[in-house]
Formats: sequence, C-alpha cells, structure tokens
Amino acid sequence: MRRLLPLAAVFAALCCSAGMAQTASEPLPPKEMNWSFDGVFGTYDRGALQRGFQVYKEVCSSCHSLNMVAFHDLAGPGGPGFTELQAKAIAAGYKIPAEPNDRGEITDDRGNRLTRPGVLADHFPQPFPNEQAARANNGGALPPDLSLIIKARNGGPNYVYSIITGFGRAPPHGFTVMSGKYYNPYFAGRNISMPPPLNKGSVSFSDGTPATVSNEAKAVVTFLSWASEPQLEARHRIGFEVLAFLVLLAGLLFLTYRKVWHGKH
Ligand code: HEC
Repeated sequence: MRRLLPLAAVFAALCCSAGMAQTASEPLPPKEMNWSFDGVFGTYDRGALQRGFQVYKEVCSSCHSLNMVAFHDLAGPGGPGFTELQAKAIAAGYKIPAEPNDRGEITDDRGNRLTRPGVLADHFPQPFPNEQAARANNGGALPPDLSLIIKARNGGPNYVYSIITGFGRAPPHGFTVMSGKYYNPYFAGRNISMPPPLNKGSVSFSDGTPATVSNEAKAVVTFLSWASEPQLEARHRIGFEVLAFLVLLAGLLFLTYRKVWHGKH
C-alpha cells in the first residue's frame, strides 16, 4: 500500500496536468437557443427558411456544397414554401456543369467546363470542381457539405449556430491561434479554418427582418435543419395523428367494456 501511494500521486498529477492542458482548447458547450422546430409539435418558420436560403446562397455557398438538396425541394411540402415558378427561377440562376455536347465535349476551346442553367431536378452545384481546389482555397481545410451538418454534429442547430456566431472573442492568455486560422471557442481545438462568415448586413432581407449576425445565423440554421430533416413536419403530424387515434381507441374500448360488463357484477 505504501508503495502504491506515490504511484497514485504521480498518476493524479499526470491526469490533472493533462486535464488543465485540455481545458484551454476544449470547446465550450453550444449556446442554448429556442427553435420553432423543437419539441413534438415543432414546425419550421417559413419566413426563416426563406431568409436562411438567402443566407446560404449569398454567403455559405461560396465555400460549402449542399449536395443532397434539389431545387424542386424548395417548392416541396414542409419546405421553404417557394412556388414552383420561384424555384424554377432560382434553379435557372445557377450554372450547372453541362452534359457532353453533340461532339462529346464537356469543355470549350479554352478548357473551361461547359455549363447550362439549372432546372428543378438539379441539385445545388458544388462551389469547387474538386476536393483539392476546395482545400487550396481554404488554407488546406475542407469546408464540409452542409446537407446533413445539423444531424452530423452533437448539439445540432445549437452547435452550428454557436460556430457561426462564435467568432470575435479574445483567446485566453497563452492560447496560440495558428497562422491562417481563427479563434472559435465552440470548435474542437478552438482553431478553425473558416473565416467569420457573417457580419451585420451580410445580406439584405426583403421582408424587413434586420440583418443582424444573430438573425442571419438563426435563419441559416433553420434552413440547414430543414435540409437535414425535410420530413420533420410530416413526422410530427403523423405522430400526432397516431396519438389521437390511440386516445380515441382507448375511449371506445372503455365504452365497450362498460357495455359488455353492465349489470354483470
Ligand atoms: C470562405 C469560405 C467559407 C464560408 C463563406 C463559410 N464557411 Fe463554413 N467552413 C469553411 C471551412 C474551410 C471549414 C472547415 C473548418 C476547419 O475544419 O477548420 C468550415 C466549417 C464549417 C462548419 C463545420 C464545423 C465542424 O464542426 O466541422 C460549419 C457548421 C460551417 N462551416 C457553417 C457555415 C455556414 C452556415 C456558413 C454560411 C453562413 C459558412 N460556413 C460559410 C469555410 C467557409
């Protein structure tokens, strides 16, 4: 036992110092936000979805893809509620890599990729032609596809909201912000390769919502939550219908029970 004591002390000291070294770069827990789509009756706020699409399009899409969302989804049930005509116009505003032309070519004489306007069936195009180009433009880091980011990270919407609004704080004394990176206390390691994406007035909302960093972030997080789970409203509705059915069934069963046993005890 006496021999074990110093060992235990050394062990405790090691753990302690490892723990202390960790705290400086350990991420903060995400901010706690309220979302309209939280809870069993949650639905997406249509206005926020449309504003969020605008933020994705005008800000995030220069670095992040959204591979799993097609333009027709923008007009689908449970989505941002654009009309089919609006979704067509949005699609037509994008340049999509074209299929080979009559001569089997996909590039013009100068080697540029041929493109065509998007149609409803197309998915959002990639911001970079390939991974190397994406990394080369982002200091070696790869901006992840955002289609499932809300589902893919612990903390979901709160985490993504915290990341995009978590810039601008001074790092604690002694913390080194690596060259080409930015201090973000919500990101693992606290050194992130994404420059602060949102500023006041990064976009101009046509519905009059003030374009504060917080409003821009709330909108884009709502939009990305929908992209991650487009069926949420249908799922909540079916859940509610099933519950209502079960309550009705229980009532009917109770009445039957009373009728069957009436006067029999
Ligand atoms: C200038 C390019 C650029 C823009 C614009 C940009 N990002 Fe990023 N983003 C990056 C890069 C690069 C990374 C990878 C960071 C890393 O691994 O250090 C990243 C990472 C992320 C992450 C992932 C963090 C994680 O846990 O892996 C999220 C979420 C994110 N960005 C959301 C957004 C949103 C939302 C927008 C628009 C408001 C946006 N980004 C705009 C470059 C960008």
